Amino acid sequence: MPFSFKQPPRSGNDVATLKGISKSYGEKVIYDDFDFEVKRGERWCVMGGNGAGKTTLLKLIAGIIQPDEGKARLGASLKMGYFAQSALEVLDANKTVWKQIDDAFPAATIPSKRTLLGSFDFPTDEIDKPIRVLSGGEKSRLVLAQMLYDPPNFLVLDEPTNHLDLDSKKMLIQTLSKFDGTMIFVSHDRTFLRGMANNVLDLSGTDNKGNTKPMKYGCAYEEWVERTGHEAPGVWH
Ligand SMILES: Nc1ncnc2c1ncn2[C@@H]1O[C@H](COP(=O)(O)OP(=O)(O)O)[C@@H](O)[C@H]1O
Ligand SMILES: [Mg+2]
Repeated sequence: MPFSFKQPPRSGNDVATLKGISKSYGEKVIYDDFDFEVKRGERWCVMGGNGAGKTTLLKLIAGIIQPDEGKARLGASLKMGYFAQSALEVLDANKTVWKQIDDAFPAATIPSKRTLLGSFDFPTDEIDKPIRVLSGGEKSRLVLAQMLYDPPNFLVLDEPTNHLDLDSKKMLIQTLSKFDGTMIFVSHDRTFLRGMANNVLDLSGTDNKGNTKPMKYGCAYEEWVERTGHEAPGVWH
């Protein structure tokens, strides 16, 4: 059953603004004078093969890394939730599943926290498991549960579906389809892309110097596939 979370507080219209961003690693230019804006209600998917710069972009937006040049700004009244494999570090390996959530929301009622965990596929007889024994998929689910209990209004998700089984993916899609905030994400899952994206940033093209040439499409994923004829590399059909 998908979790019915509280709607997040409404943000301003300008959610993330990147102006004149340049970012290189050594000789490798990832972004060169790149402008990009995310507005309220947009749900961007970032497409591109391995090493195209998808994770770098999400980190620039989240403020985890700084550009060499240019400015990345988040808008007013923003509460951001960043998910990546590194986000699993918020989990304390020595706590149980229950303790992790109970400690994160001390003021919330026990039944509401049980419902949250149940929706993210941790039934009551499994919440006393220590986090240390959880699989990658279970850890991802727990982090997403914690993130969405009191939801941010801007989600930055780097491959959230990676270790999830099919049922968990479906649950996450159903949960997030009721989310009326703003999102930017990377996913190789076609169902997730189809269900979520209303804008596409394509990093798969290069300019004549071989640098990434970002292309923006103001359409849903499905329409982008029709228009361009490509599907994401590694997309699960
Ligand atoms: N900290 C870093 N130091 C050096 N090179 C990096 C670093 N982070 C990323 N890169 C390189 O930058 C490129 C883009 O990386 P990334 O944004 O992670 O790509 P993607 O997420 O699209 O696969 C890759 O070639 C990667 O090896
Ligand atoms: Mg990546």
